[in-house]
Amino acid sequence: MPGFFAIKKKEVLPDSAARRIFALISSDLSRVETEFERQARSNIQVIGYLGEYLRSSGGKRLRPALLLLTNRAAGGDCGDNVVRLAAVMEMLHTATLVHDDIIDNADIRRSKPSINARYGNQTAVLMGDWLYMSAFETALSERSLEILDILTGLTRKMTEGELIQMTMIGRVDITEEDHLDILRRKTAYLFSACCEIGAILAGADNDVRLAMRSFGLDLGIAFQLADDLLDLTGDDDTLGKAAGADLLEGKLTLPLISLVKVMPSLRDDLESIMLNGRYDNISRESLMLLLKTHGIIDSIKKREAEHTSRAIKSLEVLAKNEYRSALEQIPGLLVDRKR
Ligand code: IPE
Ligand code: IPE
Ligand code: MG
Ligand code: MG
Repeated sequence: MPGFFAIKKKEVLPDSAARRIFALISSDLSRVETEFERQARSNIQVIGYLGEYLRSSGGKRLRPALLLLTNRAAGGDCGDNVVRLAAVMEMLHTATLVHDDIIDNADIRRSKPSINARYGNQTAVLMGDWLYMSAFETALSERSLEILDILTGLTRKMTEGELIQMTMIGRVDITEEDHLDILRRKTAYLFSACCEIGAILAGADNDVRLAMRSFGLDLGIAFQLADDLLDLTGDDDTLGKAAGADLLEGKLTLPLISLVKVMPSLRDDLESIMLNGRYDNISRESLMLLLKTHGIIDSIKKREAEHTSRAIKSLEVLAKNEYRSALEQIPGLLVDRKR
Protein backbone atom coordinates (compact mmCIF):
# COMPACT_ATOMS: atom_id res chain seq x y z
CA MET A 1 0.00 0.00 0.00
CA PRO A 2 1.36 3.48 -0.78
CA GLY A 3 1.65 6.12 1.88
CA PHE A 4 4.09 8.07 3.96
CA PHE A 5 3.43 6.16 7.11
CA ALA A 6 3.87 2.85 5.32
CA ILE A 7 7.37 3.69 4.10
CA LYS A 8 9.74 0.87 4.91
CA LYS A 9 13.10 2.30 3.87
CA LYS A 10 15.14 3.29 6.88
CA GLU A 11 16.65 6.40 5.35
CA VAL A 12 13.26 7.88 4.53
CA LEU A 13 11.80 7.07 7.90
CA PRO A 14 12.87 9.53 10.58
CA ASP A 15 11.98 7.10 13.39
CA SER A 16 9.59 4.37 14.31
CA ALA A 17 6.80 6.88 15.03
CA ALA A 18 5.62 6.64 11.42
CA ARG A 19 5.36 2.89 11.75
CA ARG A 20 3.23 3.22 14.87
CA ILE A 21 0.94 5.72 13.19
CA PHE A 22 0.58 3.43 10.21
CA ALA A 23 -0.39 0.55 12.47
CA LEU A 24 -3.20 2.69 13.90
CA ILE A 25 -4.79 3.54 10.56
CA SER A 26 -3.59 0.91 8.11
CA SER A 27 -6.94 -0.85 7.79
CA ASP A 28 -8.78 2.47 7.36
CA LEU A 29 -6.21 3.51 4.76
CA SER A 30 -6.71 0.35 2.77
CA ARG A 31 -10.44 1.04 2.77
CA VAL A 32 -9.59 4.49 1.36
CA GLU A 33 -7.49 2.84 -1.32
CA THR A 34 -10.37 0.57 -2.33
CA GLU A 35 -12.70 3.57 -2.35
CA PHE A 36 -10.27 5.60 -4.47
CA GLU A 37 -10.12 2.68 -6.88
CA ARG A 38 -13.91 2.60 -7.03
CA GLN A 39 -14.18 6.36 -7.58
CA ALA A 40 -11.53 6.38 -10.30
CA ARG A 41 -13.26 3.54 -12.15
CA SER A 42 -15.11 4.37 -15.32
CA ASN A 43 -16.84 2.64 -18.20
CA ILE A 44 -14.90 4.93 -20.42
CA GLN A 45 -11.74 3.00 -21.08
CA VAL A 46 -9.33 5.91 -21.28
CA ILE A 47 -10.55 7.38 -17.98
CA GLY A 48 -10.33 4.04 -16.22
CA TYR A 49 -6.80 3.62 -17.47
CA LEU A 50 -5.62 7.10 -16.47
CA GLY A 51 -7.37 6.86 -13.11
CA GLU A 52 -5.54 3.64 -12.36
CA TYR A 53 -2.25 5.09 -13.60
CA LEU A 54 -2.63 7.93 -11.10
CA ARG A 55 -3.92 5.88 -8.21
CA SER A 56 -1.29 3.22 -8.51
CA SER A 57 1.58 5.67 -8.84
CA GLY A 58 1.69 5.99 -5.08
CA GLY A 59 1.93 9.20 -3.14
CA LYS A 60 2.17 9.69 0.58
CA ARG A 61 -1.62 9.69 1.14
CA LEU A 62 -1.14 12.35 3.81
CA ARG A 63 -4.44 14.09 3.27
CA PRO A 64 -6.63 11.01 3.75
CA ALA A 65 -4.45 9.93 6.69
CA LEU A 66 -5.10 13.30 8.35
CA LEU A 67 -8.83 13.08 7.78
CA LEU A 68 -8.95 9.58 9.27
CA LEU A 69 -6.82 10.44 12.28
CA THR A 70 -8.64 13.68 13.13
CA ASN A 71 -11.92 11.81 12.80
CA ARG A 72 -10.84 9.13 15.25
CA ALA A 73 -9.15 11.61 17.57
CA ALA A 74 -12.35 13.65 17.74
CA GLY A 75 -14.36 10.58 18.70
CA GLY A 76 -15.46 9.40 15.26
CA ASP A 77 -15.47 5.79 14.10
CA CYS A 78 -14.17 6.14 10.53
CA GLY A 79 -17.44 4.93 9.05
CA ASP A 80 -17.95 4.44 5.33
CA ASN A 81 -18.77 8.11 4.76
CA VAL A 82 -15.48 9.12 6.42
CA VAL A 83 -13.56 6.75 4.16
CA ARG A 84 -15.44 8.16 1.16
CA LEU A 85 -14.52 11.72 2.06
CA ALA A 86 -10.90 10.73 2.69
CA ALA A 87 -10.79 9.34 -0.86
CA VAL A 88 -12.42 12.55 -2.13
CA MET A 89 -9.59 14.59 -0.59
CA GLU A 90 -6.97 12.42 -2.30
CA MET A 91 -8.84 12.76 -5.61
CA LEU A 92 -8.90 16.54 -5.25
CA HIS A 93 -5.20 16.53 -4.40
CA THR A 94 -4.50 14.33 -7.44
CA ALA A 95 -6.49 16.69 -9.67
CA THR A 96 -4.42 19.67 -8.49
CA LEU A 97 -1.21 17.74 -9.18
CA VAL A 98 -2.32 16.77 -12.69
CA HIS A 99 -3.11 20.40 -13.52
CA ASP A 100 -0.03 21.70 -11.68
CA ASP A 101 2.27 19.52 -13.76
CA ILE A 102 0.83 20.99 -16.96
CA ILE A 103 1.32 24.52 -15.61
CA ASP A 104 4.86 23.76 -14.44
CA ASN A 105 5.69 21.71 -17.51
CA ALA A 106 6.82 18.93 -15.17
CA ASP A 107 7.78 15.58 -16.67
CA ILE A 108 8.11 13.46 -13.57
CA ARG A 109 5.68 12.94 -10.71
CA ARG A 110 5.99 10.22 -8.09
CA SER A 111 8.97 8.83 -9.99
CA LYS A 112 6.87 8.20 -13.10
CA PRO A 113 6.14 10.25 -16.21
CA SER A 114 3.47 12.83 -15.40
CA ILE A 115 0.16 12.53 -17.26
CA ASN A 116 1.02 15.58 -19.39
CA ALA A 117 4.44 14.18 -20.27
CA ARG A 118 3.03 10.81 -21.19
CA TYR A 119 -0.33 11.64 -22.78
CA GLY A 120 -0.11 15.34 -23.58
CA ASN A 121 -1.55 18.50 -22.07
CA GLN A 122 -4.99 18.11 -23.63
CA THR A 123 -5.56 14.73 -22.00
CA ALA A 124 -4.16 15.98 -18.70
CA VAL A 125 -6.49 19.02 -18.55
CA LEU A 126 -9.52 16.82 -19.13
CA MET A 127 -8.41 14.14 -16.68
CA GLY A 128 -7.86 16.80 -14.02
CA ASP A 129 -11.37 18.15 -14.66
CA TRP A 130 -12.81 14.65 -14.49
CA LEU A 131 -11.11 14.01 -11.13
CA TYR A 132 -12.45 17.28 -9.70
CA MET A 133 -15.97 16.55 -10.81
CA SER A 134 -15.94 12.94 -9.67
CA ALA A 135 -14.65 14.04 -6.29
CA PHE A 136 -17.47 16.58 -5.99
CA GLU A 137 -20.05 14.04 -7.09
CA THR A 138 -18.98 11.70 -4.31
CA ALA A 139 -18.85 14.55 -1.81
CA LEU A 140 -22.44 15.43 -2.74
CA SER A 141 -23.60 12.02 -1.58
CA GLU A 142 -22.82 13.17 1.96
CA ARG A 143 -25.66 15.73 1.62
CA SER A 144 -23.73 18.17 3.78
CA LEU A 145 -23.78 21.80 2.72
CA GLU A 146 -21.19 22.51 5.38
CA ILE A 147 -18.71 20.13 3.76
CA LEU A 148 -19.53 21.25 0.22
CA ASP A 149 -18.98 24.81 1.32
CA ILE A 150 -15.49 23.91 2.55
CA LEU A 151 -14.66 21.97 -0.61
CA THR A 152 -15.82 24.59 -3.10
CA GLY A 153 -14.14 27.43 -1.18
CA LEU A 154 -10.98 25.39 -0.98
CA THR A 155 -10.89 24.52 -4.68
CA ARG A 156 -11.45 28.17 -5.55
CA LYS A 157 -8.59 29.23 -3.26
CA MET A 158 -6.24 26.62 -4.71
CA THR A 159 -6.98 27.76 -8.25
CA GLU A 160 -6.49 31.38 -7.21
CA GLY A 161 -3.17 30.35 -5.68
CA GLU A 162 -1.97 28.88 -8.98
CA LEU A 163 -3.18 31.99 -10.85
CA ILE A 164 -1.50 34.39 -8.43
CA GLN A 165 1.66 32.32 -8.66
CA MET A 166 1.60 32.63 -12.45
CA THR A 167 1.53 36.41 -12.19
CA MET A 168 4.66 36.17 -10.05
CA ILE A 169 6.64 33.87 -12.35
CA GLY A 170 10.16 35.11 -12.92
CA ARG A 171 9.72 37.96 -10.42
CA VAL A 172 12.70 38.47 -8.16
CA ASP A 173 10.80 41.19 -6.29
CA ILE A 174 8.16 38.81 -4.92
CA THR A 175 7.65 39.59 -1.23
CA GLU A 176 7.54 37.18 1.64
CA GLU A 177 3.85 38.03 2.12
CA ASP A 178 3.04 37.30 -1.54
CA HIS A 179 4.82 33.98 -1.27
CA LEU A 180 3.16 32.96 2.00
CA ASP A 181 -0.25 33.79 0.55
CA ILE A 182 0.44 31.47 -2.41
CA LEU A 183 1.78 28.77 -0.11
CA ARG A 184 -1.33 28.82 2.09
CA ARG A 185 -3.60 28.63 -0.94
CA LYS A 186 -1.65 25.93 -2.79
CA THR A 187 -1.15 23.61 0.14
CA ALA A 188 -2.24 24.62 3.61
CA TYR A 189 -5.99 25.09 3.06
CA LEU A 190 -6.27 21.55 1.74
CA PHE A 191 -4.54 20.16 4.83
CA SER A 192 -6.79 22.35 6.94
CA ALA A 193 -9.96 21.14 5.18
CA CYS A 194 -8.99 17.49 5.70
CA CYS A 195 -8.61 18.00 9.43
CA GLU A 196 -11.76 20.09 9.79
CA ILE A 197 -13.84 17.60 7.80
CA GLY A 198 -12.48 14.77 9.96
CA ALA A 199 -13.81 16.62 13.00
CA ILE A 200 -17.15 17.52 11.38
CA LEU A 201 -17.79 13.89 10.47
CA ALA A 202 -17.04 12.91 14.06
CA GLY A 203 -19.85 15.28 15.14
CA ALA A 204 -17.32 17.30 17.14
CA ASP A 205 -18.12 20.59 18.91
CA ASN A 206 -17.33 23.86 17.23
CA ASP A 207 -14.20 24.46 19.29
CA VAL A 208 -12.74 21.09 18.28
CA ARG A 209 -13.64 21.72 14.68
CA LEU A 210 -11.95 25.13 14.69
CA ALA A 211 -8.91 23.72 16.46
CA MET A 212 -8.58 20.99 13.81
CA ARG A 213 -8.86 23.65 11.11
CA SER A 214 -5.96 25.56 12.70
CA PHE A 215 -3.96 22.40 13.24
CA GLY A 216 -4.24 21.57 9.53
CA LEU A 217 -3.38 25.09 8.47
CA ASP A 218 -0.18 25.27 10.52
CA LEU A 219 0.75 21.74 9.50
CA GLY A 220 0.20 22.58 5.83
CA ILE A 221 2.35 25.70 6.06
CA ALA A 222 5.16 23.77 7.75
CA PHE A 223 4.79 21.00 5.15
CA GLN A 224 5.16 23.40 2.21
CA LEU A 225 8.06 25.28 3.85
CA ALA A 226 9.76 21.90 4.10
CA ASP A 227 8.83 21.10 0.48
CA ASP A 228 10.47 24.33 -0.67
CA LEU A 229 13.63 23.44 1.25
CA LEU A 230 13.61 19.90 -0.15
CA ASP A 231 13.48 21.37 -3.64
CA LEU A 232 16.85 22.97 -2.86
CA THR A 233 18.44 20.20 -0.86
CA GLY A 234 16.96 17.01 -2.32
CA ASP A 235 17.66 14.94 -5.41
CA ASP A 236 15.33 13.71 -8.16
CA ASP A 237 15.42 10.07 -7.11
CA THR A 238 14.49 10.65 -3.50
CA LEU A 239 11.89 13.31 -4.27
CA GLY A 240 10.30 11.41 -7.16
CA LYS A 241 10.07 14.75 -8.98
CA ALA A 242 12.67 17.14 -10.39
CA ALA A 243 14.82 18.74 -7.67
CA GLY A 244 15.88 22.37 -8.06
CA ALA A 245 12.81 22.89 -10.22
CA ASP A 246 11.22 25.83 -8.38
CA LEU A 247 13.77 28.37 -9.54
CA LEU A 248 13.91 26.90 -13.05
CA GLU A 249 10.12 27.23 -13.18
CA GLY A 250 10.52 30.92 -12.27
CA LYS A 251 9.46 30.55 -8.63
CA LEU A 252 11.38 32.22 -5.86
CA THR A 253 10.53 30.49 -2.60
CA LEU A 254 11.13 31.71 0.95
CA PRO A 255 14.80 30.63 1.25
CA LEU A 256 15.79 32.61 -1.85
CA ILE A 257 13.46 35.52 -1.07
CA SER A 258 15.32 35.80 2.26
CA LEU A 259 18.71 35.47 0.57
CA VAL A 260 17.99 38.27 -1.90
CA LYS A 261 17.08 40.50 1.04
CA VAL A 262 20.56 40.15 2.54
CA MET A 263 22.37 39.89 -0.82
CA PRO A 264 20.62 42.18 -3.32
CA SER A 265 23.54 41.68 -5.73
CA LEU A 266 22.15 38.19 -6.45
CA ARG A 267 19.03 39.53 -8.13
CA ASP A 268 20.43 39.51 -11.67
CA ASP A 269 21.77 35.98 -11.42
CA LEU A 270 18.52 34.64 -10.03
CA GLU A 271 16.54 36.49 -12.66
CA SER A 272 18.64 34.99 -15.40
CA ILE A 273 18.22 31.44 -14.00
CA MET A 274 14.45 31.97 -13.99
CA LEU A 275 14.46 33.48 -17.45
CA ASN A 276 16.70 30.90 -19.10
CA GLY A 277 15.54 27.87 -17.13
CA ARG A 278 19.21 27.00 -16.45
CA TYR A 279 21.53 27.38 -13.50
CA ASP A 280 24.06 29.38 -15.52
CA ASN A 281 25.93 32.04 -13.54
CA ILE A 282 25.49 30.41 -10.18
CA SER A 283 25.07 26.73 -9.36
CA ARG A 284 22.51 25.15 -7.08
CA GLU A 285 25.38 24.09 -4.79
CA SER A 286 26.68 27.65 -4.45
CA LEU A 287 23.19 28.88 -3.64
CA MET A 288 22.91 26.22 -0.94
CA LEU A 289 26.22 27.31 0.52
CA LEU A 290 25.07 30.93 0.63
CA LEU A 291 21.82 29.90 2.28
CA LYS A 292 23.77 28.03 4.93
CA THR A 293 26.36 30.72 5.59
CA HIS A 294 23.69 33.39 5.95
CA GLY A 295 21.82 31.23 8.46
CA ILE A 296 18.77 31.08 6.20
CA ILE A 297 18.33 27.31 6.36
CA ASP A 298 18.30 27.61 10.15
CA SER A 299 15.83 30.44 10.09
CA ILE A 300 13.44 28.50 7.83
CA LYS A 301 13.77 25.50 10.14
CA LYS A 302 12.90 27.82 13.02
CA ARG A 303 9.86 29.03 11.18
CA GLU A 304 8.79 25.45 10.50
CA ALA A 305 9.19 24.74 14.20
CA GLU A 306 6.95 27.70 15.09
CA HIS A 307 4.19 26.28 12.92
CA THR A 308 4.69 22.73 14.14
CA SER A 309 4.46 23.78 17.77
CA ARG A 310 1.41 25.91 17.08
CA ALA A 311 -0.15 22.91 15.32
CA ILE A 312 0.57 20.65 18.28
CA LYS A 313 -0.88 23.24 20.66
CA SER A 314 -4.15 23.20 18.70
CA LEU A 315 -4.50 19.52 19.59
CA GLU A 316 -4.90 20.31 23.28
CA VAL A 317 -8.69 20.51 22.90
CA LEU A 318 -8.77 16.80 22.15
CA ALA A 319 -9.12 14.08 24.76
CA LYS A 320 -5.83 12.27 25.32
CA ASN A 321 -5.73 9.05 23.35
CA GLU A 322 -3.52 7.20 20.89
CA TYR A 323 -4.96 9.12 17.94
CA ARG A 324 -4.16 12.46 19.49
CA SER A 325 -0.62 11.22 20.20
CA ALA A 326 -0.32 10.17 16.56
CA LEU A 327 -1.42 13.63 15.42
CA GLU A 328 1.12 15.18 17.79
CA GLN A 329 3.92 13.26 16.08
CA ILE A 330 2.96 14.16 12.53
CA PRO A 331 4.24 17.76 12.31
CA GLY A 332 7.74 16.67 13.35
CA LEU A 333 7.73 13.75 10.91
CA LEU A 334 6.60 15.92 8.02
CA VAL A 335 9.21 18.62 8.44
CA ASP A 336 11.97 16.03 8.79
CA ARG A 337 10.87 14.02 5.77
CA LYS A 338 13.11 13.33 2.78
CA ARG A 339 10.43 13.34 0.07
C1 IPE B 1 2.81 17.53 -3.46
O1 IPE B 1 2.18 17.00 -2.33
C2 IPE B 1 2.33 18.92 -3.67
C3 IPE B 1 2.72 19.82 -2.58
C4 IPE B 1 1.82 20.40 -1.86
C5 IPE B 1 4.12 20.06 -2.34
P1 IPE B 1 2.70 15.66 -1.67
O2 IPE B 1 4.16 15.80 -1.38
O3 IPE B 1 1.83 15.28 -0.54
O4 IPE B 1 2.53 14.65 -2.88
P2 IPE B 1 2.29 13.09 -2.92
O5 IPE B 1 0.81 12.89 -2.86
O6 IPE B 1 3.00 12.45 -1.79
O7 IPE B 1 2.86 12.68 -4.26
C1 IPE C 1 2.09 22.53 -5.29
O1 IPE C 1 2.69 23.28 -6.19
C2 IPE C 1 1.10 21.67 -6.00
C3 IPE C 1 -0.28 22.05 -5.71
C4 IPE C 1 -0.74 22.14 -4.53
C5 IPE C 1 -1.17 22.29 -6.85
P1 IPE C 1 4.22 23.07 -6.59
O2 IPE C 1 4.32 23.26 -8.05
O3 IPE C 1 5.05 23.95 -5.73
O4 IPE C 1 4.46 21.58 -6.15
P2 IPE C 1 5.31 20.44 -6.81
O5 IPE C 1 6.71 20.77 -6.46
O6 IPE C 1 5.03 20.48 -8.26
O7 IPE C 1 4.86 19.17 -6.15
MG1 MG D 1 4.67 21.91 -9.60
MG1 MG E 1 3.15 24.58 -9.35
